[in-house]
Formats: sequence, structure tokens, C-alpha cells
Amino acid sequence: MLNVAIIGLGGIGNTHAGVYKASDKATLAAVCDMDKARADKAAAQYGVPAFYSVADLVKNVELDAVSVTTAGPENGGHHFDPVMEAFEAGLHVLCEKPISNDIVKARQMVAKAAEKGLSFGVNLNHRFVPPAAKAKEWMDEGKLGDPLLINMTMWIGNPNESSPWFHIRALHPHSLDIMRFFCGDVKRVHAFFNRAPGRVCYSNVQVNLEFVNGVVGHLTGSYDTNPRHNLERCEVMGTEGRFVLDNLYEELTLYPRRSDELTVIRNSIMGGLSGFGATFTNRINRWIEQVDAGVAPDEIEASGKEGLAVQEIIEAAIRSYEGGSVESVPS
Ligand SMILES: NC(=O)c1ccc[n+]([C@@H]2O[C@H](COP(=O)([O-])OP(=O)(O)OC[C@H]3O[C@@H](n4cnc5c(N)ncnc54)[C@H](O)[C@@H]3O)[C@@H](O)[C@H]2O)c1
Repeated sequence: MLNVAIIGLGGIGNTHAGVYKASDKATLAAVCDMDKARADKAAAQYGVPAFYSVADLVKNVELDAVSVTTAGPENGGHHFDPVMEAFEAGLHVLCEKPISNDIVKARQMVAKAAEKGLSFGVNLNHRFVPPAAKAKEWMDEGKLGDPLLINMTMWIGNPNESSPWFHIRALHPHSLDIMRFFCGDVKRVHAFFNRAPGRVCYSNVQVNLEFVNGVVGHLTGSYDTNPRHNLERCEVMGTEGRFVLDNLYEELTLYPRRSDELTVIRNSIMGGLSGFGATFTNRINRWIEQVDAGVAPDEIEASGKEGLAVQEIIEAAIRSYEGGSVESVPS
């Protein structure tokens, strides 16, 4: 049984709280927010003590792990301090994405977890859906043959503005994580961006990627569309076939190269995922399960290291656009 606390009680911190409260492997022991009203409201709702600083939280409560669900610039600028404080206190950390909007700090966070021998997870929740696991199984079984191509689209409507790179830094940890989930590490990238009229951030992006295993692929991303029509689509093609994973978990189709018979898996009305919120439930429960079982930090799925890997791709894409160059991705 894990004793956990949540640091940052906005909408997403409260989503984490709901999953911990429902888990039989974790106990929500405390909440912490520097905004007293938010901390007190959550404390009353969940029947746990409130703290207004991480220092007070870790001094006063026996904990195994924390969720860091702060936000900040580009939705990740406030993660660094509470994550580092939690590691210093010897706690495992599940951090919201992006791991950080500052690549130097993201590297320090991953290094600190390794130095302390602690588990570090990032809430890359989009991959925690049964059809993604099935598609991966098809790849492992050789149903696609040798992988060759990947195409990924992720687009939502987000009118918020903060910096030129808000869209790619805040949203595309998710899309790039899905691409890495299927095709592994990325070697080189080349990117173009544009802004919709009146926007401060580069709200549209095209990234061309070359993977270490030789797969080539493409990411199309946008903050200028309506996700109710389609949130994301991932297509992977190999020498023996391809799959299309449509809208995260709605429909998965296998198109074998040498047959006209397709395999289609639809999200079932009976027992399928109930909505996007279920991706949080799946991801956080997997984190609880792995930490509770004491798996080695290197085996944590969607780890801090993987959260860092996608930010490295993002920073390489930004460098590519600024310099008109093809950029290597640090490994
Ligand atoms: N995984 C997903 O699909 C998904 C979806 C949406 C948002 N997110 C992420 O969730 C995170 C939180 O989003 P939100 O909308 O709930 O943010 P929010 O701004 O509403 O809440 C963050 C809270 O953290 C608190 N905080 C900041 N620094 C703190 C510190 N050092 N100690 C204690 N409290 C601190 C703030 O006071 C605030 O109440 C963001 O990183 C965002 O990118 C993830």
C-alpha cells in the first residue's frame, strides 16, 4: 500500500486524487497547494490534511510517493522545484507533462531520480489504452514485418497563449510519446511551424522524424481545430502491413499487406474506455501498481527518462525551425 500526496490541486491534481481515492493499492494521505483556498478545498473534499508548501508536507507526513500536478509557463514551468524537493525527501514522483518546459531542468530532474534510485513517472497517459497495447503486440508478433513508416496527427483547439513554443512544448509530449512507443528513439528531426492569424504561439507544426531503427515519419500538430471531430491518429506501416489507431482508442485497424481481410477493434459500448478521463485512470493505476510492486526505476513505463526524450525531440524541432536545419536529437 502506497502513501501518496498530491502537489498542485487544479483540475488535473483533482483528477489524480480521484484515482488514488479509488485505488486499493494507494492511500491519499495529504494534499499540498501554495494556493491555500485550493489546498483547503481539496483537503475537505478528500478528508486529508492540507499543506501549503512541499517542505511542510514532507516534514509532517509519512509518504512513499507524490503526484506533481503543478503547471506554470508552457504548462510545465512549475514542476521542477516540487519534483526536486520530493526526490530530496526520498519520494517516488509521478509528474504531469511536460516534464519541464526547460530542457536543462528536465535533464536535472531525470539525473536526480537516478542519483537517488527513485522511480520517476510522467503522465504520458495517451499510450495507456488497450488498443495501443494491441497494436504494439501486433508489431512484436511481426504482423507489420519490419517497420518502415509512421504518421501521427494530434490536434486540439487551445486558444491559450503564453510563448511562441507553447503548443509544441505543452501538447506534443503526448504525440511524440506515442511515436516513440511504437518506433523507439528518434535520431534526427526537421520542422516547420506557422501561426494561425492573430496567434502568439506557433499553433501549427509539421515535424519530419528519422528514428534510430531507420523508420521515417511525420507529426502534424495543431492548436486550431475541434478535437470533438478527431483528437489524434497514428498509422504505422511495415513490410507486411500497417495499422491505424484512430482517435486514441476509438478504433484500431490492421491492414495486412498480402490479404484483403482487415482486423478491426472498436471501443466497445460494453466495457470499453468511457472517455478521455479513463486514460488518466489507466496511467495512474499502472504507476501505483509498478511502484507498489517495487519494480526497478528503469522499468517504470512512461518514465521521467521517456518524458525527457520527447522534450529533447521538441527542442530539436525548435532548433531546426530557427536554423533551417536538420537537427540531431541528443540520446
Ligand atoms: N496528461 C494530460 O492529458 C493533461 C491534460 C491537461 C493538463 N495536464 C497537465 O496537468 C498540469 C496541471 O494542470 P492544471 O490545469 O490542473 O493546472 P493549474 O494551474 O490549474 O493548477 C496547478 C496548481 O499547482 C499549484 N502550485 C504551483 N506550484 C506549486 C508548488 N511549488 N507547491 C504547491 N503548489 C503549487 C498552483 O497554485 C495551482 O493551484 C499541467 O502540467 C498540464 O500540462 C495534463
